[in-house]
Amino acid sequence: MMNSLKYCLIVYLLLEGTFIFATDYQGFSAYTRAAILLNGEWKYMVDPYENGYYNYRLEPFDQLDQTYSMGFYGDQKIKNPGDLIEYDFDKSPSLMVPGDWNTQDPRLYYYEGTVWYRKKFIGPELESGERIYLYFSAVNYRADVYLNSKKLGTHIGGFTPFWYDVTDLMKTDNNSLVVRVDNKRCSSCVPTLNTDWWNYGGITREVKLIRLPGTHIKDFEIHLESAQSKKIAGKIWVDNAPEGEPVTVSVPELKISVTAKTNSKGIAEFEFTPGKLELWSPENPKRYSVLLSTQADQLSDTIAFRTIRTEGKQILLNDKPVFLRGISVHEEYSAEGDGRVNADWKAAQLLKWAKELGCNFVRLAHYPHNEDMVRIAEKMGIMVWSEVPVYWTIDWTNDETLNNAKNQIQDNILRDRNRGNIIIWSIANETPVIEDRTVFLRKLINRVRELDQTRLISAALEKHYLNDSVAVVQDPLAEYLDVVAFNEYVGWYDGLPEKCSRISWLIEYNKPVFVSEFGGGAKFGYHGPETTRWTEEFQANLYFRSLNMLDQIDGLCGISPWILCDFRSPRRALPEIQDGFNRKGVLSEKGEKKQAFYVLQKYYHSKK
Ligand code: GCU
Repeated sequence: MMNSLKYCLIVYLLLEGTFIFATDYQGFSAYTRAAILLNGEWKYMVDPYENGYYNYRLEPFDQLDQTYSMGFYGDQKIKNPGDLIEYDFDKSPSLMVPGDWNTQDPRLYYYEGTVWYRKKFIGPELESGERIYLYFSAVNYRADVYLNSKKLGTHIGGFTPFWYDVTDLMKTDNNSLVVRVDNKRCSSCVPTLNTDWWNYGGITREVKLIRLPGTHIKDFEIHLESAQSKKIAGKIWVDNAPEGEPVTVSVPELKISVTAKTNSKGIAEFEFTPGKLELWSPENPKRYSVLLSTQADQLSDTIAFRTIRTEGKQILLNDKPVFLRGISVHEEYSAEGDGRVNADWKAAQLLKWAKELGCNFVRLAHYPHNEDMVRIAEKMGIMVWSEVPVYWTIDWTNDETLNNAKNQIQDNILRDRNRGNIIIWSIANETPVIEDRTVFLRKLINRVRELDQTRLISAALEKHYLNDSVAVVQDPLAEYLDVVAFNEYVGWYDGLPEKCSRISWLIEYNKPVFVSEFGGGAKFGYHGPETTRWTEEFQANLYFRSLNMLDQIDGLCGISPWILCDFRSPRRALPEIQDGFNRKGVLSEKGEKKQAFYVLQKYYHSKK
């Protein structure tokens, strides 16, 4: 079963419009598991007419009998001279996995459609009772997965992991793993048809096989309940465990070792209160090694313990007010002409630039980034805003779209709920203030609260004007958010930089206020008067004036200007300036610092 989310609702209480849930959602804690990587060269075939998936009547081959010789998923070879097979993976070119196809083959730079991938591998000999899982860290946008001509399943959503138990299908000699990847945009998709980023298609993150004992620890959740009491609690999901299976949680550095027992659903709940505990913070990114063990299995991870909550207009990290010195970041590293981040060193480089800027926070826009990004940020002491691509003009009245959005936010939370540096789950970006959208997003908020009561919820709202000089945030959704965040472009899309000195802000919520985007474009190395758009001087002046304007907002708890680096976008066509890149980075796509970088860096040093 793909994405085996065991969902059991234990208690569902409706109190004055606030839902209190005790529910159990299980993911797969896979990152620290030993794995057989299936990265590297995969054969590929471009299939713009879906000829390898449908017959001429548009019927999927994988739903018709005895037609796998036609469907590419069969990975067939010509055996007899009379055979009619019109494809051959072995004679096709290769793409590297992980990686987008757009920047690997110039013919695919703008390609949106289906590409078939094929990987051959020798399956390991399993011990008796062992299980083996095929794990995809992400595929953009839709993946149909076949092993040895058998369909494993279909996954929708370009930025979250999924997996299949392939124990009964994998062979100990040659296996044929075929993946149909389709990155076509669609109005009911999440994101929808229009975005301001490149639609990188492909198996963009790693693929691996994970062998586990028959009875194994599949997932766990652990969190610090309060900075005062230092009480730590959590759950462990043990697959194929009888009731009463002992599960031990140990934190050697704290001299903690507690044992709990699984219930009839294979879930063991635990709690402990260490004598001393160093809380994680940007200044002291302390993490502890946590070891979970059963008779047959062990799982270890490094955990950052901290608390996050709001009090009036403040965000409190470990019960102390914190100002989020942020920057927005796309999951793109284009310094050498590449695209989607597909290696941990690229994630680390982006975060090093953020650190150099003086950041203690990154807004990972506009979709869940790869797990390396989150974990390296945690190690570096950088807090994270994690977001799903519910972006702009989503199909608010479509149930399939809502379920897709719920699945993506669920997969995101289940993957990252043990990452202490994630403090905000964001459910949307720049969505319209209409009833259908607010109903849709409230359902997402409820899903987040079911999954995780330990973090803050926000969304990047939009600003409006009360009159010529007073800007407001008035959005019914704000009532349901913990942090009122908004994007504003005074001085870029809205007037010129001098307008900043004429605007004041009225944000009447007794909640922390966060500016999730502001900024403007500049071509690195283009210099001139600060009145000339696209010069570094124009952008630096815009930053200077924006910071002066925003710093006066009552309850400002942080900012994440748009954006760290220039990034590819099909919307940005101005020759000699944009050339297919959004130029709002404070760094060029090659990591060259623009003047605005230093304006922002100086502001952050004043905020430390
Ligand atoms: C919007 C949007 C970004 C976009 C930016 C821009 O606010 O959230 O995704 O790239 O503005 O116009 O550059």
